[in-house]
Amino acid sequence: MALKTLIFCVVFVLGFSLITCQSEKGKSNNKEEIIFQQNCALCHGLNGEKQLSGAKKLTESVISKDEIKVLVSNGMRQMPAFKERLTEKEIDLVSTYAFQFRDHK
Ligand code: HEC
Repeated sequence: MALKTLIFCVVFVLGFSLITCQSEKGKSNNKEEIIFQQNCALCHGLNGEKQLSGAKKLTESVISKDEIKVLVSNGMRQMPAFKERLTEKEIDLVSTYAFQFRDHK
């Protein structure tokens, strides 16, 4: 069955890339961190402290995780909307990641 072969391939490739990722010591294999680095760090910085084009410091943010999800989905002024670019699951992950910056203070 072609479908079974396809599923097998996908599982195999995912599993394999997981193993190779984990063996690269020091490099991030954390999905939300990668999403953040690729989509948010440009303005917010790797540690959430950068303030490009008026971005707020994520370390000083006071809004809730649900509010972050809405903001990331829909954008706000200089901040772009991500609902066309990221899946709901990815927005959820990256919002959780953005939320935890304030704990690092
Ligand atoms: C093009 C630059 C840019 C990118 C890319 C960007 N942001 Fe923003 N972000 C902003 C700006 C500007 C604001 C301030 C919006 C305002 O209040 O006018 C902001 C505000 C925020 C806030 C609210 C902070 C607070 O408490 O007021 C959060 C949380 C946030 N961004 C998370 C993210 C996440 C997560 C991503 C990636 C998915 C992201 N941002 C990508 C520019 C950006």
